[in-house]
Amino acid sequence: MSYRLDKDLALRERAQKVFPAGMYGHMSTTPLPDNYPQFIAKAEGGRIWGVDGYEYIDFLCAYGPNILGYKHPKVEAAVRRQLEQGDCTTGPSPLMLELAEKLVEKGDHANWSLLCKNGSDATNICLMVARAQTGRNTILMAEGTYHGTDPWSSWSKVGITDNARADIITFKYNDCDSLEQAVAKAGDDLAAIIVTPNLHEVFVPQQLVTQEFAQKARQLCNDKGAALILDDVRCSWRFSLGSTWQTLGVLPDLCAMGKTLGNGYALSAVTGNDRFRSGAAECFFTGSYWFSSAAFAASLATMEAIEEENAIERMETAGNQFRAGLADLANGYGFKLDQSGPVQMPLFLFEDDPEYLKGGFFCNEAVKNGVYLHPVHNMFICAEHDKDIVDALDRLDGAFKALKAQFGDG
Ligand SMILES: Cc1ncc(COP(=O)(O)O)c(C=O)c1O
Repeated sequence: MSYRLDKDLALRERAQKVFPAGMYGHMSTTPLPDNYPQFIAKAEGGRIWGVDGYEYIDFLCAYGPNILGYKHPKVEAAVRRQLEQGDCTTGPSPLMLELAEKLVEKGDHANWSLLCKNGSDATNICLMVARAQTGRNTILMAEGTYHGTDPWSSWSKVGITDNARADIITFKYNDCDSLEQAVAKAGDDLAAIIVTPNLHEVFVPQQLVTQEFAQKARQLCNDKGAALILDDVRCSWRFSLGSTWQTLGVLPDLCAMGKTLGNGYALSAVTGNDRFRSGAAECFFTGSYWFSSAAFAASLATMEAIEEENAIERMETAGNQFRAGLADLANGYGFKLDQSGPVQMPLFLFEDDPEYLKGGFFCNEAVKNGVYLHPVHNMFICAEHDKDIVDALDRLDGAFKALKAQFGDG
């Protein structure tokens, strides 16, 4: 039976009329090859189904939020219970406090917490708190790093003034000299260094942070009285329930967390230490939906399930199995893959593929065979994928066969 996306294409045609560019943001499949469905009908565990009925083993996990598996029973039950009591009310439920206490308990650096919705809320809050506390303006961030869509960090410059970035100085990730030069350039005005736990940007191999670089960032912030901000939005709860650099013994002053905290229910958070408490107390931040309680219920249940079900270990085991299986398959067909980043957040690029032609072709075949991958963005392993890797590798054999027919021996 041929692979056809008739219903999806009909929806896309309608979408062209009511969404600018037909769809927007990271969920737009316009930059992806033709076989990708734009609209998803349902999801369960590590799998999604498009509106044309095809099932895909989903290694994008909603671009991160799905950490336990879609529709996790414990999380869904906790949300249903809270919805029966009320969600967005005039004042939050006590679950908000319970969750903040848990975040403080789990974060070795954390004495307080703020709860919000998107990762961008959290990174913005961190910048505001750092500036409020230090009375300075300049922020250092790694070149090309994504910290959200807000003007100071968005990769796109369309609709953004140069002023929005006037207080930003960049450095090269994992390069201590470059970081020291940026600190020198900031002079007496250094408010914060914001950095992601690993370098996880599109189109290029990921970089695991070096211990030396993480320690250097910490030491420079200590020396200058500036804030070390860890942007953990993409990584949170995949490696630790505290901040990700906790596993290296390097503690941030402020940590922005997001994506996974509600296993898909909208929630992000900032945790901070006492040095930055008064700055945080003086700032004004809020949002109409920041206090809705179903997400707090989801988050408490997600945290519990991660511990009870050994989710962190399961993601690592499944990630290792996927990485090794992909390497074996590629070798068997005469292709070489550059696999980078933590195994829980896999990215593979084909060697000798400067224009990503092999990667694009392969992913297009993969999706036709029922595996949803991304050619240039890091992917995500959820805990339930431990049931899916063998099946996924089996399906990917067909994609490698097609790649070989198209590109010969690599
Ligand atoms: C490292 C990092 N920071 C911040 C953000 C922004 O998060 P959100 O899209 O939830 O606003 C993202 C989103 O992908 C991210 O990966």
